[in-house]
Amino acid sequence: MFFRLMYHIVLPVYVVFVIFASVSLGKTQNAFFMIVFGLLFIASIFLERMYTHLFLFIASGEIISLLLFHYTSQLNWCYSIYIILLSKFLFQVKGAVKGIFLGFGFMVIYTVIRATYSPVNSYSIFGVGSDFLTSIAVVLIIQYIIEMEAKKNTLIEEKKREELLYKEEKMKLIAEMAAGLAHEIRNPLTIIQGFLQHSKEDHYNIQPWYDLIFSEVNRMNKLTVEFLQFSKPDVSQYQVYSIHDCLKRVISLTKSEAQSVGHQIVYTHTEYNPDLLVKMDFNKMVQVFVNLINNAIQSMVESGHITIRLLKVGNLAVCEVCDTGVGIEDADLKKIFNPFFTTKAEGTGLGLSICQKIVQDHGGTIEVSSTPKYGSIFTICLPLDTGASHALDFSND
Ligand SMILES: Nc1ncnc2c1ncn2[C@@H]1O[C@H](COP(=O)(O)OP(=O)(O)O)[C@@H](O)[C@H]1O
Ligand SMILES: [Mg+2]
Repeated sequence: MFFRLMYHIVLPVYVVFVIFASVSLGKTQNAFFMIVFGLLFIASIFLERMYTHLFLFIASGEIISLLLFHYTSQLNWCYSIYIILLSKFLFQVKGAVKGIFLGFGFMVIYTVIRATYSPVNSYSIFGVGSDFLTSIAVVLIIQYIIEMEAKKNTLIEEKKREELLYKEEKMKLIAEMAAGLAHEIRNPLTIIQGFLQHSKEDHYNIQPWYDLIFSEVNRMNKLTVEFLQFSKPDVSQYQVYSIHDCLKRVISLTKSEAQSVGHQIVYTHTEYNPDLLVKMDFNKMVQVFVNLINNAIQSMVESGHITIRLLKVGNLAVCEVCDTGVGIEDADLKKIFNPFFTTKAEGTGLGLSICQKIVQDHGGTIEVSSTPKYGSIFTICLPLDTGASHALDFSND
């Protein structure tokens, strides 16, 4: 936009200015030819834009008409026109060396024409030196702009490519999830359909199977309810909360259930931990820990302990949920975060994949280590908030 303003407005205005100056100062010896060459020069600038495929031909015309215009105007002020034209060509040639050669060529031509009307003395020789240095500076500035522009374009391209890749990955994930959900729902549906068909066609009494049918319907319901939790956390819900308050809420929600099946929840934290602030969707994060504790409860056949530890490691809040349950076999460790992977008869296999998604949406990580027969440790790392204020207090005591 600015360059177009320079070439299509400033440049023609400059040519007209030189014509007036040369005529007014009585410098030109042939005003008619000067005007003709000036107009030719302006016309070639516009033609170049219209007939881009004839660039070389029109560019030569531009240079020749400028030389003749300069020669007939007999004015040093044409120097600025050379510089503007040079800057235009610099955008076409690539590389500083080529640019410097081009600038050098322009200055040689300018100096030779200037010598036809200006006396050769020490002043004009220093003037030539200054002109050459100016042209080098212009070349370097334009080169810098070109480089910056190229870098910006590569960054934009990279970002576009990344976005495309991200979208593709997302679509792939959605397709996989949809296929998984369809597969999970098809089994109970087939069972229910079989019973209904049997009952309709053969008047088969399905009453004794009501419980089974209900349990299959409940399973489908559970699957869809959990599946809905995959929805992205609402970023507007993100506020700065104390992770300590979050864990206290989780414990108050799960304590009685754990106790009813004979388990103890132990929460350990150091003095500093109440200050561990994390930007989060409070409810989603509660959901993550409740899921982990439910898994821990389900993993312990005999009465056991669930230990929750909260630590600060560098700029991370680290929360560990440890149980003394059956543990996870090595072969299963890689699969437990996959949607629909479950080893439980009543499981949906969605709990951990939902936890992983929520934690990742918060810029954190979730990892597991486990020893079969002894128990498992789930570790969640969340980036600590830096410098924001504590928004709400959810603490119960
Ligand atoms: N604390 C744990 N101890 C032992 N196994 C676990 C634990 N947490 C998760 N798992 C394993 O990971 C699987 C997937 O868990 P999850 O995604 O919550 O689905 P679900 O609980 O419905 O099975 C479980 O079926 C279980 O095999
Ligand atoms: Mg679970």
